[in-house]
Amino acid sequence: MNAPTRLIVDVDTGIDDSFALLYLLGSEDAEIVAVLSTAGNVPTAQVTINNLAWLELCGRGDIEVAVGANGPLSAPLRTTEDTHGPQGLGYAVLPQPTHRPSDRTAAQAWIDLTREHPGELVGLVTGPLTNLALAIRADPELPGRLRRLVVMGGAFQHPGNTTPVAEWNISVDPEAAAEVFAAFSAVPEDRAPIVCGLDITERIILRPEHLHRLAELADSAPAEIIRTDDHPSTRSATSNPVVRHLSDAVRFYFEFHRDHGQGFIAHMHDPFAAAVALDPGIATYRSATVDVETEGRITRGQTVADWHGLWGRSPNARITSETDVDAFLDDLIHRIAGMAKVVAASSNRTDR
Ligand code: RIB
Ligand code: CA
Repeated sequence: MNAPTRLIVDVDTGIDDSFALLYLLGSEDAEIVAVLSTAGNVPTAQVTINNLAWLELCGRGDIEVAVGANGPLSAPLRTTEDTHGPQGLGYAVLPQPTHRPSDRTAAQAWIDLTREHPGELVGLVTGPLTNLALAIRADPELPGRLRRLVVMGGAFQHPGNTTPVAEWNISVDPEAAAEVFAAFSAVPEDRAPIVCGLDITERIILRPEHLHRLAELADSAPAEIIRTDDHPSTRSATSNPVVRHLSDAVRFYFEFHRDHGQGFIAHMHDPFAAAVALDPGIATYRSATVDVETEGRITRGQTVADWHGLWGRSPNARITSETDVDAFLDDLIHRIAGMAKVVAASSNRTDR
């Protein structure tokens, strides 16, 4: 087997960010070098607690968690507890973490790690681009030191989810996104950031039956059955702690999508970007020059793709267009279930 892909993971954990973390923790071909906390779904401090808590629950308290900026480069911080829950993990209440974040900032971690491992690390950003933008401001050579950058963000030929034209991660900090896309104009086209926009991630639809299958694969009992007409206080009783907490988290997300007319489902934005970070071969792409609207009265946060070179600027993005959705979802639940089984087995051993 090839050496694992080594990743810097910058997240605004969040429910689907949690799936992304668990997917990577369950991937033998992945090594998380650091988890960086960015304000977005919930404030940075809560994102940090969520990151520490998931890593500790999964027996990976050894992985560095760094704290990012308290808010966007210039815009006031907006969070979205209505989507991800008051703590960002839906109804899940994870054990309080005992590990603490590292002493360096998320931006400093971006700089240090890419200097220590030039050309080796894959950057994955599934939240606003604030910390990566801060790092690049301090060290403009950073883009050339990344092996690959994968960003969950943007909406190109698809409606926004935060405004009619803007996707959440970009909308929270449009200035940061504009600076990051501009900074990556200088890298070779085959190393341009891979961008997973809503165009594809809103096709990645997780349903309650996926949780049922995940629990089954993790030998967790009783069966995990989430119904739209469950009493609001219903919580998972399944035996496996990872499955139980993940189920409580995603139940909130199912309800959010249902209450917004999208069905009792959840879009798996971030774990899909994580899968692309490990293996870009699971999707197809179109090159474009991407820029971000920062001044528009009604279009602020919109990601604009110049597919045909009309701006006369070199392409700076590879926008994801097609993937095998069912194959990815199957991979997602198998990797998380496998990891969940290992966690349960090790906690049973320590409980003796
Ligand atoms: O628009 C979807 C993105 O915004 C996801 O990363 C979700 O976690 C939120 O951060
Ligand atoms: Ca996210």
